[in-house]
This record gives sequence, C-alpha cells and structure tokens, in this order.
Amino acid sequence: MHVTPLQPAARATTERTGSRAQDLVARGICYRYPQAADEVIHDFSHRFLPGTLTALVAPSGAGKSTLLSLLSLLLAPRTGTISLGDVVVERHRTSTVRTLRRTHFNQILQNNACFESRTAVDNVATALLSSGVTMSSARRAAGAALASVGLSSRAEMPARLLSGGEQQRMTIARALLTDRPYLLADCPTR
Ligand SMILES: Nc1ncnc2c1ncn2[C@@H]1O[C@H](COP(=O)(O)OP(=O)(O)OP(=O)(O)O)[C@@H](O)[C@H]1O
Ligand SMILES: [Mg+2]
Repeated sequence: MHVTPLQPAARATTERTGSRAQDLVARGICYRYPQAADEVIHDFSHRFLPGTLTALVAPSGAGKSTLLSLLSLLLAPRTGTISLGDVVVERHRTSTVRTLRRTHFNQILQNNACFESRTAVDNVATALLSSGVTMSSARRAAGAALASVGLSSRAEMPARLLSGGEQQRMTIARALLTDRPYLLADCPTR
C-alpha cells in the first residue's frame, strides 16, 4: 500500500470545524477477514493529519477499502492500534466508538450506498437527521449541498434514476453536509 501526502500542512479543515481536530494514527495494524486464509492488511502504520490530503494507492484487491473501514472505525484491527489524539480506540466500548465515528468521520463509500427509492435531496438530508435538525432544515441544507455538486435539477428524482456519476456526486454532497475532521473517500471519481 502506497501512502502519498498530496497537500502538506494546510490547516483549513481544522479551522473550518472550529474544534481541535486530532491526528488519526494507525500503528502496526493487521486485519484478516473471518474464514480468509491470509491477512488483507499487514502491519500498516501511518499518521494522518487533519487538514491535509492523503492518497492511498494500491492495485485492485490490495485492501484499500478494508483499510478505510479500519481507519473509520467500522472494522477493528486484529492486532495493532488506531488512535485519535490520545484516545486509543480499541480500549473503548462500542457505544464510544460509535460516537467517535459520528463526530470524526465522513465517508464516501465505493459502491455509492444510498436509499434508491428516495429522492436525491432526501438521501443527502439523512446525513443531518441524527443531529436533531428538523427535516425541513435538513432538506434545505441538502438542496444547497446538491447545488454545490451541480445536481440541483436532480434533487427531486429517486436516486435509482441518477446516472452512476450523479449518484457519486450525490454521495459526495451527503458527505460534505456534516462538518467533521476527516473525509474518507473510496474511489470517489472512479
Ligand atoms: N467481507 C469479506 N470477506 C472476505 N474477504 C473479503 C471481504 N471483503 C473483501 N475481501 C477480500 O479482501 C481483499 C481486499 O479487498 P478490498 O475491497 O479492501 O480491496 P480494494 O483494494 O479496495 O480493491 P478495489 O480497488 O478493487 O476496490 C480482496 O481480496 C477481497 O476479495
Ligand atoms: Mg475498494
């Protein structure tokens, strides 16, 4: 796995969130899927800094999506640790990990996961519903986010009718709606 820093030391994200975003650090993490013979991720270490842009480059099947699931705390490493600032994630309860996920990470998944029968604007608005805002405010913010990716004209269409690229832009709009320190994007311009 090749890790390439693309934009060193810009602190824009840290300033935008207004909170002191913490470094995300993987130390010697390994992961093997249940029933698989071999490890997909073997002894991976890296320090990711908020406000910087980093690319993970590796061939298909090498483990990029798996690594993003580990870094976003969806999967737990079999060995090694992941830390956010001083917090070693593995030492905490599931409910704490869930909160860390919600407060620190936005994700764009490789498969454009969405509610296919719901409109684009409703799909994007779902990002705000757990934060307690009203549906009408969430839809207003979602409309603006869709406009920022050039999808105003598709806002009221069911997601299943959008093209693959439009679905990708819709999931980018959803990921941009909440202000969190880390955006993990899995092949967002494939
Ligand atoms: N749930 C699973 N159970 C068992 N093996 C899995 C599972 N998910 C992925 N794998 C295997 O783990 C390896 C890494 O998969 P992963 O999806 O992380 O690769 P990737 O680098 O993202 O590939 P691509 O560039 O094609 O998206 C692959 O060989 C895949 O078959
Ligand atoms: Mg992948």
